[in-house]
Amino acid sequence: MRGSVNVAASTPYEVLVEPALDLADAVSAISPGASGETAILLTDSTVGPLHAPAVVAAIQRAGWDVLDTVTVPAGEASKSLSVYEGAVRGLADAGLPRGGTLFALGGGVVGDLGGFIASSYMRGIGFVQLPTSLLAMVDSSVGGKVGLDLPEGKNLLGAFLQPRLVAANLDWLETLPASEVSHGLAEVIKMGLLAGGEFFEDLQRLLEAARVGDSEALQALILHSVRYKAFIVSEDEREAGPRAVLNYGHTIGHGLEAAASYDLPHGQAIALGMLAAARLSREKFDVDLIGLHEDLLRAAGLPLKAPMTAVQPVLAAMGRDKKRRGSDQAGTHRFILLNDVGQPQRDVPVSSAEARRAIEATIAS
Ligand SMILES: NC(=O)c1ccc[n+]([C@@H]2O[C@H](COP(=O)([O-])OP(=O)(O)OC[C@H]3O[C@@H](n4cnc5c(N)ncnc54)[C@H](O)[C@@H]3O)[C@@H](O)[C@H]2O)c1
Ligand SMILES: [Zn+2]
Repeated sequence: MRGSVNVAASTPYEVLVEPALDLADAVSAISPGASGETAILLTDSTVGPLHAPAVVAAIQRAGWDVLDTVTVPAGEASKSLSVYEGAVRGLADAGLPRGGTLFALGGGVVGDLGGFIASSYMRGIGFVQLPTSLLAMVDSSVGGKVGLDLPEGKNLLGAFLQPRLVAANLDWLETLPASEVSHGLAEVIKMGLLAGGEFFEDLQRLLEAARVGDSEALQALILHSVRYKAFIVSEDEREAGPRAVLNYGHTIGHGLEAAASYDLPHGQAIALGMLAAARLSREKFDVDLIGLHEDLLRAAGLPLKAPMTAVQPVLAAMGRDKKRRGSDQAGTHRFILLNDVGQPQRDVPVSSAEARRAIEATIAS
């Protein structure tokens, strides 16, 4: 089934989400002049052997010259300056010209690294995202944020770059481990709770089928997510305000991740962060969405309890996160909470004592 979303960014682009996606056709569509386009494919050591040969063949069928495939190790550690250096030198060695295009085939790591390379190599070249993880399809490939980690913190180096095209072949998800599907679903649940309406109804109806790999359920939920994120981002491309709702579950989630020295996967951390936010929402707005959150997380194979036992390191990490963002007022956190499904509230002040209680209820005791 065909499926696409047009993203109304400063430079508009199309996001295609389809089973058996015709990539040659999609690539031809962004280069009407046909001949003369050159490309390099960036991928990682897990995704490359599985999917790169077919992707290279498709780009060639579109009449493009694929100069090389650059492969980086799978995993977050590849969003580093040393891997960046190796990869950009790979582009230079292959002779990728200023008018060239980098195709990033992989999860959010390859997308973020590839986008940062494309934004900086020769002051900017073309960029195409070929997201292969569920998280990359619903979240990281949409919105134009790209970047690298530093030893001092995640995503400290970055740029905004709109791709020429985002093309997601649902068949790629067949090789994605089940745990990674669950992690991607955490972001889908987040956006469904924020969006409400038809998206939320479909989320409740299709979540279990999506979890076990049903292609139609996945396509429907991915398209809802892309449409929602694209809408939020188009309102606020440079992240001045409204885009902050996408941080639902991330305030405590980031604290949990950091307190666990990033041993806790992001999807699990934000699942728990959303549950804690649901508790805070109940305190602030007298609306009880906790059972609803628990049902959704369970259906997606996500945890309801954090593995750690101490609250203090989580609060300390949240404090550091806040400082990094340059916020004021020691002791008060600003949360995205839900007044109801589909009704996020930004900037709700939450005291450290309130945050502590919400975290306490979420960690294993
Ligand atoms: N730019 C943004 O707006 C944005 C938003 C959210 C997250 N992110 C970033 O995304 C990254 C996380 O993305 P991720 O969860 O995709 O991680 P990832 O890229 O590390 O992928 C997860 C794992 O799955 C493997 N994989 C991916 N696709 C596969 C497939 N089809 N078959 C088999 N294995 C496959 C990868 O090799 C990797 O081992 C983080 O670095 C995060 O900061 C960026
Ligand atoms: Zn996230």
